[in-house]
Amino acid sequence: MSSTERNAPRNTAVVGLQWGDEGKGKIVDLLTAEHDVIVRYNGGANAGHTVEVGGERYALHLIPSGILNPGKLNVIGNGVVVDPEKLIEEIERLRSRGVDVGANLKVSDRAHVVMPYHKEQDAALEEFLAHIASGERGSLAIGTTRRGIGPAYADKISRSTAIRVGDLLDAAHLRDRLRVVCRLRTAELKALGVNAPALDADALAERFAALGSTLRPHVTDTVYALHDAMADGRSLLFEGANACLLDIDHGTYPFVTSSNCSTLGIPSGTGITGNRIHRVLGIMKAYTSRVGAGPFPTELLDGTGERIRQRGREFGTTTGRPRRTGWLDLVSVRYSAMICGATGIACTLFDVLSGFEELKICTGYRLPSGTVTERFLPDARLLAQVEPVYETLEGWSEDIRDASDRQALPSAARRYLDRIEKYLGVPVEMIGVGPDRAHTLVAA
Ligand code: GDP
Ligand code: IMO
Ligand code: MG
Repeated sequence: MSSTERNAPRNTAVVGLQWGDEGKGKIVDLLTAEHDVIVRYNGGANAGHTVEVGGERYALHLIPSGILNPGKLNVIGNGVVVDPEKLIEEIERLRSRGVDVGANLKVSDRAHVVMPYHKEQDAALEEFLAHIASGERGSLAIGTTRRGIGPAYADKISRSTAIRVGDLLDAAHLRDRLRVVCRLRTAELKALGVNAPALDADALAERFAALGSTLRPHVTDTVYALHDAMADGRSLLFEGANACLLDIDHGTYPFVTSSNCSTLGIPSGTGITGNRIHRVLGIMKAYTSRVGAGPFPTELLDGTGERIRQRGREFGTTTGRPRRTGWLDLVSVRYSAMICGATGIACTLFDVLSGFEELKICTGYRLPSGTVTERFLPDARLLAQVEPVYETLEGWSEDIRDASDRQALPSAARRYLDRIEKYLGVPVEMIGVGPDRAHTLVAA
């Protein structure tokens, strides 16, 4: 390696290795100090990333978690689906709390727009699946965030009915397109049982053109902006939203979201190839949580699950729903680490596990045939049939929030981390011992 290559800026990806809410926001905020540009590549306002700094709590949905650090460029890439009203709300909320949001935020002109009818479609489809189409099998609903994510991505793939951020900047073009789309959507919503007046294309066009004007200063070709930044020697930090087990191709289909939220979404969602990503930090809770429906082999439906939920404040950042909780499932995390190419692990919410006499870690799945496998089954129907095989580890009683480094942790806590590393074959580089930016141990 030449000295120029050695000194070249390093680009990092932060990605969730479970079903979301692993604490990605906090880790992105922390790593922002070492990078110049923070980039969202997937998802939309279904994400909820919490960052706590000095007692202040911020919830971010569309804006990269780097925004709280002055002097950094924050980019919403082409792979994101943008709800303009939510984005403007978020910008205003941050500004009202003294956070600078101006030229430091760029939005791709090719990102797709979440329209109000997408949210109606999302909710109507969920209702249909929960009540009308369920029959004797119970609800077929996915338990989406109802933020219009699936229908917006469906329009992206359908092409002729999609609206992109760039379209909001041309009022006449937007109106022409919406006149066609609204006719179609009104009929579709009616078929789903929505009893509402026909969508008013002209009113919608006017409203969204106005939102486009507000966003205009931020809108740009982010692909060139990112490549220009790299050519200028600036480093990038990719912020994953949702998480690997919710990836449309590699997650627990069909109980997934509608984007490639693993690191595999970075190239298509930003225009930057994978060989420009030098470090992938996989974020993993010390246990497991999931919001919405879908299989969860290590779920705890008892007092232990409730205790984890209360200690970990496991209530959704976006929807406020109580999260399902369970023991750490290393079979799924090793699979996610493989899919995402994780070079290191951040083990977050480790402090939540203090005070349990013993802890369980899932290291295998027993299939209906009786065979035990260490391979994940990224298919909801198959995964629903496995039984977790556990190893039991000794717990620790000490509060670990004030631990200074890994060596200072109780010996049982260190053994828990050692077991994770051995099973995953990936080093634990960061340990979260509390919600604040400062509550993070970085491996020496
Ligand atoms: P994200 O979607 O991956 O960014 O995660 P969320 O913000 O939705 O959920 C993670 C929750 O855990 C938030 O309430 C964070 O403030 C909190 N959190 C993050 N890291 C830690 C940690 O190490 N310990 C504790 N106790 N809370 C944490
Ligand atoms: P962050 O970035 C947790 C889940 C939803 C639902 C499924 C599909 O905060 O980790 P969608 O609205 O995307 O169509 O819902 O995916 N889901 C998340 N769960 N954290 C998230 O994001 C999620 N984003 C989507 O609960 O089960
Ligand atoms: Mg979240």
